[in-house]
Amino acid sequence: MLDSVVLSCSLLGLFLHVVEFTDGGITSSFVRSVDYSLDMPLNSDVFRPPPGYNAPQQVHITQGDHEGRGLIVSWVTPDSPGSNTVYYWVEGSKKKKYVEGIVLTYKYFRYTSGYIHHCTLKNLEFDTTYYYQLGLGDGNFSRTFTFTTPPSPGPDVPYTFGIIGDLGQTFDSNRTLAHYQKNPAKGQTLLFVGDLSYADNYPFHDNVRWDTWGRFTEGSAAYQPWIWTAGNHELDFAPHLGEHKPFIPYKSRYHVPFEASGSTSPLWYSIKRASAYIIVMSSYSAFGKYTPQYEWLEKEWAKVNRTQTPWLLVLMHCPLYNSYADTYMEGETMRVMYEPWFVEHKVDVVFAGHVHAYERSERASNIAYNITNGLCDPIKDESAPIYVTIGDGGNLEGLVTEMTEPQPTYSAYREASFGHGIFDIKNRTHAFFSWHRNEDGYAIVADSKWLLNRFWKPSEVPPLASA
Ligand SMILES: *[C@@H]1O[C@H](CO)[C@@H](O)[C@H](O)[C@H]1NC(C)=O
Ligand SMILES: *[C@@H]1O[C@H](CO)[C@@H](O)[C@H](O)[C@H]1NC(C)=O
Ligand SMILES: *[C@@H]1O[C@H](CO)[C@@H](O)[C@H](O)[C@H]1NC(C)=O
Ligand SMILES: *[C@@H]1O[C@H](CO)[C@@H](O)[C@H](O)[C@H]1NC(C)=O
Ligand SMILES: *[C@@H]1O[C@H](CO)[C@@H](O)[C@H](O)[C@H]1NC(C)=O
Ligand SMILES: [Fe+2]
Repeated sequence: MLDSVVLSCSLLGLFLHVVEFTDGGITSSFVRSVDYSLDMPLNSDVFRPPPGYNAPQQVHITQGDHEGRGLIVSWVTPDSPGSNTVYYWVEGSKKKKYVEGIVLTYKYFRYTSGYIHHCTLKNLEFDTTYYYQLGLGDGNFSRTFTFTTPPSPGPDVPYTFGIIGDLGQTFDSNRTLAHYQKNPAKGQTLLFVGDLSYADNYPFHDNVRWDTWGRFTEGSAAYQPWIWTAGNHELDFAPHLGEHKPFIPYKSRYHVPFEASGSTSPLWYSIKRASAYIIVMSSYSAFGKYTPQYEWLEKEWAKVNRTQTPWLLVLMHCPLYNSYADTYMEGETMRVMYEPWFVEHKVDVVFAGHVHAYERSERASNIAYNITNGLCDPIKDESAPIYVTIGDGGNLEGLVTEMTEPQPTYSAYREASFGHGIFDIKNRTHAFFSWHRNEDGYAIVADSKWLLNRFWKPSEVPPLASA
């Protein structure tokens, strides 16, 4: 008896069971042109350093506190430490404020980094455009950028997030980023679901490719916050090179406001931004019971006030639901651990990457199984999040095309093309999610779904006709 139940829920059993479904969602028949994802060469235009001795480069910003009034500015000076100061001022004002940051370097095998600066701006005004200047008083090569702070958290604040995963630095990566920047939906903040530079695919994890990636992404990341999630390509764990501590390049270069949410690690943290509460998790850190990540997340749920921030989003790298053959069931242990919380606390969407393709799920859960009852099939569940896999940024490993067949019922739409997502919050009840493939025009929506907030609109009503 016990044996047969265990067998039916084993990998083989689950697979056979899935085969019994007949009415899955849509597997797109779109055929993208064959075009190998080669990394852009080192002398590419997008990797060119800014002119001038020791000019600040690889500039990127991210939220710097829990509420949205803080901003972390990070940049690299290649030749000497230079200035740690960020000057900033409100559009129109001539009075500059300034704040001092820190500078660090790290070594990785035979590579030594440039001077990496991190500086936190605090108590900014909400919903305000600022200018900021780096490198002033440090030769003549200062650079000035702008950003706009989010509105104060509140229930009906419209806000537009972009979503990109597994970007890398190929010609396809370049198309994905350009497509995102030119999308008329105008993402205001980017949710990045892990796997940044893919430097680890080079001999000795050539960290020069971390620098080129920093320069490549600056055109967006210096002007709007990128909210970082760590993926497996951030591990850079290489004992054969004497690199025993994971995440060293990533943690040195990409600082996040983890302490502001009571986290003890930059690999998991949360922020509020406009009408969204965003929880970032780490697929590649311990997450079992009693671990720091588990204990932190357990306390997070009570902090979420759905009146103030109606939209509850979770970011992680490895998807919990994925019907592609590649990485199939890799997220299963984390699903078993955390899916009950996602359903109980009515998470609206879980965004993940890792699989180099796109997939959107129905609202489904798979939490009834308890070893003895045999209930191991995903079922329709209005309290469950929608799972979006969007690891289709365009890195050098290429697309994943092989899918498990037939399409499982929980899978609403899947397609192996490069692209990005937009999560457009309208008010406390409605948000419009869209996916944009690189091969289409900038305004074209390849897949979309009106989302009704799980807290304010807990049961589905007929979807609106269009965006
Ligand atoms: C990257 O894309 C931008 C924007 O479309 C373009 O100007 C640039 O030439 C591209 N670079 C490469 C190396 O493809
Ligand atoms: C900065 O500009 C001044 C005046 O144009 C020049 O004298 C000085 O050499 C420059 N400094 C650097 C580091 O280029
Ligand atoms: C939740 O947020 C609303 C709106 O900001 C506020 O009025 C309310 O007091 C908050 N509730 C709790 C329990 O903090
Ligand atoms: C497992 O689930 C079944 C029903 O689904 C229930 O009767 C049984 O008590 C559960 N066992 C445990 C250990 O919770
Ligand atoms: C919320 O936004 C949706 C979509 O734009 C709209 O249909 C609905 O009327 C809005 N709700 C309120 C209360 O304004
Ligand atoms: Fe990955």
